[in-house]
Amino acid sequence: MKIIFATGNKHKFEEVKKLFEDTDVELLSLNDFSVKPNIIEDAETFEENSLIKVKTVFDFYQIPAIGDDSGLTVEQLNGAPGVYSARYSGANATYESNNKKLLKELEKFPQPHKAAFVCAATYYDGNAVITAVGRLKGEIIKEYRGQNGFGYDPIFKPEGYEKTLAEITLEEKNKISHRGKAFSELKQLLIEKGIIDR
Ligand code: IMP
Repeated sequence: MKIIFATGNKHKFEEVKKLFEDTDVELLSLNDFSVKPNIIEDAETFEENSLIKVKTVFDFYQIPAIGDDSGLTVEQLNGAPGVYSARYSGANATYESNNKKLLKELEKFPQPHKAAFVCAATYYDGNAVITAVGRLKGEIIKEYRGQNGFGYDPIFKPEGYEKTLAEITLEEKNKISHRGKAFSELKQLLIEKGIIDR
């Protein structure tokens, strides 16, 4: 069956596509369509934002949708950047400018800078709404390490790991990451409910 992943982010798409490889799902992304809906994710929680994404995409294409909202929460910053992770350093934010701002904000705090990635993954087909949440605890380190992944990966070291998320493979990241956990659970729920097959 066709499911649209409500994202234009190629990195996210590669991660999630891999997780659905052993199912009958043909996963599409917004990059497969020339006309795209305008998604206004203005809620205060990851769960609500992921629901906004899938509802907007389902209403627009009338094809079942999965979507996620994810971000980084840092203890010493009272949970920031949180739902604002993508736009942390302003409207024209890049991964680089976000990382720079985060390291600057953390300069005044002692290490370790405890943090967690959070991902809410939601499925919607005009009827059923199914959501799963995944978390990955770790810490923000001062230097950039690794070339893989995206976003805050080069400065995030998962708990119990010496490497950053940008120094491990996509397969390894999927086993431990917030997105890997959320979408693995969502996949399981979709199989149990008979919506998709292995
Ligand atoms: P979203 O696309 O609205 O969910 O925003 C997610 C933002 O959170 C991204 O732009 C990244 O800045 C950050 N983020 C989410 N997941 C990850 C990840 O797996 N690694 C690094 N950064 C992430």
